[in-house]
Amino acid sequence: MRTTHPRLVLGLHRSRHERSLLTAAADLGITTIDTSTNYLDFHSHQVLAEVAGDLLPKFTVSTKVGYFPAGSTSEHSLDPGRLHTALEQAARDLGREPDLVFLHNPEHSLADGSRTQRQDRLEAACSVLVDATAAGLCGSWGISSWDPRPLTELARHPLPRPDVLMVRAGLVVGAEILDASETLVSRWQPSALWGMSPFGGSTTEPIWKRFDPRIFMGTGQDCSPGQAAFRAAFHLPEVDAVAAGTSKTAHLEELINSLAREVNFEAITQYRQLLARNDQTG
Ligand SMILES: NC(=O)c1ccc[n+]([C@@H]2O[C@H](COP(=O)([O-])OP(=O)(O)OC[C@H]3O[C@@H](n4cnc5c(N)ncnc54)[C@H](OP(=O)(O)O)[C@@H]3O)[C@@H](O)[C@H]2O)c1
Repeated sequence: MRTTHPRLVLGLHRSRHERSLLTAAADLGITTIDTSTNYLDFHSHQVLAEVAGDLLPKFTVSTKVGYFPAGSTSEHSLDPGRLHTALEQAARDLGREPDLVFLHNPEHSLADGSRTQRQDRLEAACSVLVDATAAGLCGSWGISSWDPRPLTELARHPLPRPDVLMVRAGLVVGAEILDASETLVSRWQPSALWGMSPFGGSTTEPIWKRFDPRIFMGTGQDCSPGQAAFRAAFHLPEVDAVAAGTSKTAHLEELINSLAREVNFEAITQYRQLLARNDQTG
């Protein structure tokens, strides 16, 4: 039987929307792809359906709502009517109901108002996704947040519990975001936690030349710096799966191969302690 890799989610934010990539992903045992209404200039769903509609049933497909075109630019919104319309449109454009729909960076719409107003706004948006799940417009729902700090004080009863929470993960994530993510998890208790953007969007940024992520791997683990950074992301914070982007099959294969490599938990713990200390003194 073919080995599958549910812990690696192929994220399509910066990835080619090409049949060859999706075919390779399915052949390599990738089971989940993550997209969003706004990816590929708001055309991701349609293009996926066009180039690989027959392949989509091979994957668990997650997407996001809450980001809308606005003239020549775009905007975030938690308006329940707009969210519901976006959910219906997503199912139409994909040619199937998505398995999972995230509320996309709700923190952008939670800067103003009293705490009660902000909590009400978030609750109303979550309720749209809860209702959509119950109505079969999507299989389950979640929250994806680039900066979870504004959410921590709001994530309390009576907010419904998301099935999946997605937060930033890895060596480019600062102490405050890591702490906020963990607080959110303890308060909201999602069924699953996903990490996103393990390379911070790029492996060619100067930061990746400044240190060797292999210090976070166990002794004798043969891997590249990219593989080590990806593996470390599963523990910064502790997540069930990581959404990574690539347009190259060879890179996808590298990421998959790294899943069997062992990390050095002591080094990860020391790194967290160092981050916390720097945060206090910084
Ligand atoms: N707020 C949100 O909801 C949110 C925000 C950001 C991201 N996400 C999710 O997380 C996913 C990933 O995030 P991301 O695309 O921002 O960044 P990322 O996964 O941190 O980085 C993607 C970059 O890493 C490179 N890469 C991947 N594997 C590599 C390897 N083995 N060796 C060398 N380079 C490698 C890719 O280049 P190549 O193409 O050359 O391989 C690509 O340019 C997104 O697609 C999305 O699903 C969600």
